[in-house]
Amino acid sequence: MAVLIAFYSLTGTTRTVVTELARHLQADIEEIRCERYGVSFMGWWRAAADSWRGRLPGIAPAAHTARNYDLVVLAGPIWAWHPCPPLRAYVRRERADLPETALLLTHGGSAGQQSLDALQAMLAKPPKARLTVTAAEMKSGTYVETVAHFAQTVRPKSALAPAPFAVDQCAG
Ligand SMILES: Cc1cc2nc3c(=O)[nH]c(=O)nc-3n(C[C@H](O)[C@H](O)[C@H](O)COP(=O)(O)O)c2cc1C
Repeated sequence: MAVLIAFYSLTGTTRTVVTELARHLQADIEEIRCERYGVSFMGWWRAAADSWRGRLPGIAPAAHTARNYDLVVLAGPIWAWHPCPPLRAYVRRERADLPETALLLTHGGSAGQQSLDALQAMLAKPPKARLTVTAAEMKSGTYVETVAHFAQTVRPKSALAPAPFAVDQCAG
């Protein structure tokens, strides 16, 4: 089984969640790179305005080929009640090559489900699982347990148990 987590993070929250998830899934990580936004008043204003208007920015070429994986987890923050534009730009570009997917959005506490719905609507087929992680869950640390459960849900079946012959070989 091969899992890729493609994520965008501006201020580090999604990166923290993704790092935890990747540990559980032994996943490769594709960081979506976009130069249009930054941690400044202008950067945030642009982020919110683009997200609200549905303006998708340019993103750097991918380092990993999505179609080589069994599962791609798509992750990023919510901006202005929508999935952040760099993540949407990635989904739009890779859509035809995406295998099974799972969705993960981080946010401050509003528009979680509607943003998951909007991201799901961009996909050719429904995702295997969806998760939002709030700022409150990050602060309390409960996101760690939530992410562990999410990993169990999305982990490809082939990774759940070793093949029987392998057990026999070990025993012999
Ligand atoms: C421009 C901007 C707009 C945001 N809009 C929302 C929003 O509509 N709803 C919400 O719950 N959080 C919103 N947030 C908070 C982020 O979704 C949250 O802090 C997220 O976890 C940040 O992820 P990151 O650190 O990976 O960039 C917004 C943050 C930014 C910078």
